[in-house]
Amino acid sequence: MTKKTYYITTPIYYPSANLHIGNTYTTVAADALARFKRLTGYDVMLLTGTDEHGQKIQRLAEAKGVSPKEYVDKIVAGIKELWKMMNISYDKFIRTTEDYHVKAVQKIFKRLYDQGDIYKGRYEGWYCTPCESFWTETQLVDGKCPDCGRPVERTSEEAYFFRMSKYAPRLIEYIESHPDFIQPESRKNEMINNFLKPGLQDLCVSRTSFDWGIPVTFDRKHVIYVWIDALANYITALGYGSENQELYKKYWPADLHLVGKDILRFHTIYWPIILMALGEPIPKKVFGHGWLLVNGGKMSKSKGNVVDPVVLVNNFGTDAVRYYLLREIPFGSDGLFNNEIFIRRINSDLANDLGNLLSRTCTMIEKYFNGIIPVPSGREDDVDGRLIDIALNTPKKVEKNMDNLRIPEALDSIWELIGATNKYIDDTTPWVLAKDAGRERRLGTVLYNLSESLRIIAICISPYLPETSEEMYKQLNVDITSWDSTASFDGTKAGTKINKGSALFPRIDLDKKLKELDELKKHQSSANASKVKIRKKEIGIDDFEKLDLRVAKVLKCEAIEGSNKLLKFQLDLGKEKRQVISGIAKYYSPEELVGKYVVIVANLKPIKLKGEISQGMILSAASEDDSKLCTVSISGKLPPGSTIS
Ligand code: MSP
Repeated sequence: MTKKTYYITTPIYYPSANLHIGNTYTTVAADALARFKRLTGYDVMLLTGTDEHGQKIQRLAEAKGVSPKEYVDKIVAGIKELWKMMNISYDKFIRTTEDYHVKAVQKIFKRLYDQGDIYKGRYEGWYCTPCESFWTETQLVDGKCPDCGRPVERTSEEAYFFRMSKYAPRLIEYIESHPDFIQPESRKNEMINNFLKPGLQDLCVSRTSFDWGIPVTFDRKHVIYVWIDALANYITALGYGSENQELYKKYWPADLHLVGKDILRFHTIYWPIILMALGEPIPKKVFGHGWLLVNGGKMSKSKGNVVDPVVLVNNFGTDAVRYYLLREIPFGSDGLFNNEIFIRRINSDLANDLGNLLSRTCTMIEKYFNGIIPVPSGREDDVDGRLIDIALNTPKKVEKNMDNLRIPEALDSIWELIGATNKYIDDTTPWVLAKDAGRERRLGTVLYNLSESLRIIAICISPYLPETSEEMYKQLNVDITSWDSTASFDGTKAGTKINKGSALFPRIDLDKKLKELDELKKHQSSANASKVKIRKKEIGIDDFEKLDLRVAKVLKCEAIEGSNKLLKFQLDLGKEKRQVISGIAKYYSPEELVGKYVVIVANLKPIKLKGEISQGMILSAASEDDSKLCTVSISGKLPPGSTIS
C-alpha cells in the first residue's frame, strides 16, 4: 500500500539577519509536525531554505564590501548549522540562488506574461526594503511601513505588474468555501476584511533599480520581485518547471505552509492567485503563527532584543529549547520568551517530572531486579488499570491535538501521562513492597508497568524532544518504538537488561544561571547565526581513543596555485613522510612554518583538495571571530611521530 503523503514547508529565511529564537520557532514547530507525521506513518516532505535575492541582501553585501553571492554563502552555511543544532529533520533545503530554481521562476514569469497576467507599466509609490514590500500613499501609517513601522523609500520606475485584481473575486470565493485554508480563523477575517474586500491592486512584480535578483528573460534590465521568486520555492523545490516533475506530482498541493503572521498576506493572497493563474492547485492550509515577544515587544534584530538560540542550546541543550518553544507559546498566538520562565520549565517539567521518573524507575529496576525488567504477573488492583488507561489514551489525544495543530496541547497530554506515572510510584510504594519477600511478584508488575509507561512516553515525545526520546530508549533498552505499538500496553520485553545512564536534565540553579546569562548578554553584541559555535556533544573515552594524534615536523610548505586558502605541507612523522593540505594560508606565510612542530590527526581518511592528496589534518586554534589562528604545538621537544593521548 502506498503511504499517504504530507508536504509541509517553513518560510525560506532571508540570510540577512542573524537568526534569533523567534525565527527558530517556525522551523522547530514545522519539524515537530513533520516528525509526528512520519511517526504516524506518512511519507513526509519537510522543506526549508533561504530567500537570497532582493535589495536588502544587495545592500548588506555592499556594506560588507563583498559580492551578494559571497555574502549569502557564508550566512547560509551558518543557517544550516543552526538547523543541525536544533535537530531539524528537513528533507530538502532550497536556496533561491540555485540554478534550477532560477530557471523555473523565469519560466513561470514568462508564462504569466505570455498569457497576459503580467503587463508592463510604471511604478510610482513607496517601498519598504526590510520587508521587501510595496505600499501606496494611503496604506502608509504616519508615513511609515504599516507592517514594521520603519521608513519607506519613494520609488518610481518602469515595472511589470501582475493582474491581481482579476483574480480577487475567485480568491474571496475560494477562501470562503475552504474554511480550513487560512488558520487560525481570526487571521482569515483579517485577510478578507483588510486586504481583499477594500479591493486588491495589481502587484508590481519587477524592479530595475538594482540587479541582485532573477532576471526577466525577455527584458534583462528587470529582475523579478523577490516575493514572487521566494513564494515559487514551494513548487520549484519539487521540480516544478524542470524536466523531472515526479516530486511535484507526488507532494503538491502542500498540506501545510507554516508561516509567521507577518507574512501571511503574501501566502494567502499573492501565492494562491499566482497558482490560480498557473492553473495549479492551491495549498490545503496556511497557518500563521504568532510572534515571540521579549518584554512586550516583537523580537527583532532592529530592536536589539534578540535572544540567540546558540547561547540557549549551549547552556540548556537542544531539547530544552525545543520544549520551551513548543509547550510555552500558544500555537497561533504571540508568546513570551523569558529566561526565568524557561529555566523554571526545565526544572519542573523536564528535570523533575520526566527526568526523575526515568531515573527512579531505572534505579529501582537495578536495585530490586539487578537491572533486568521483571515479568508482570497480571493486574492486581485499580491502580494498574488507571495507569494503563491513561497510557493507552495518551497517544490518541496527542494525535487528535496534532491533527488540529495544537502542539502545546499535545504536550500537555503527554505530561498528564508523566504525572500519572509519577503518581503510580507514590501509590504503589515499590520500596515498601521490596521489604516484603512475599510481594516480589507485585513489585515486578509495578516496575514492568513503569517501564512500559516510560516506553510509551518516549515514543510520544519523540517528535518534540528527539534526543531525549533516544536517550530513554537507550536507558530502558527499548526496541519497539513504533507508533502502532502504543495501542497496547505490552511493548516492553520482560527480561531486558536496562542501561541506567545520567540524568536526562540536570536541575539548574535558577539565580546562578540567570546571572550567568546576564553576563553573557553583556559580552555578546548580537545573535550570530553565521558563526554558530555549537558546544559539541559529550563523548566517551572510547570516542576520543579513536583519534590518532601525532607530532609532526614541517619539512616543506608551499602555497597551492589557484587557491588563496590552502597550503601544501610535507611532514615528517618519524617512520614516514606525509603530505597534508591545510586551509590556513590566510594566517601564515609558507616560510614561517618550515621547521615547526605541529600536531596532526594522523588517521583521518585521505581526501583530495584542489587535486592534491591530503593525508591528515593539522590542528589549530582560532579566535571566536576567526580573525586569529595558531597551529597547535607541544611545549617540550619530542621526536616527530610521537603520539599524543
Ligand atoms: N524570506 C521571507 C519568507 C519567504 S517565504 C516564501 C521572510 N524571511 S524572514 O527570515 O524574515 O522570516 C522567517 C520567519 O521568521 C517568518 O515566518 C517570520 O514570521 C518569522 N519570525 C521573525 N521574527 C519572529 C518572531 N519574533 N517570532 C516568531 N516568528 C518570527 O519573511
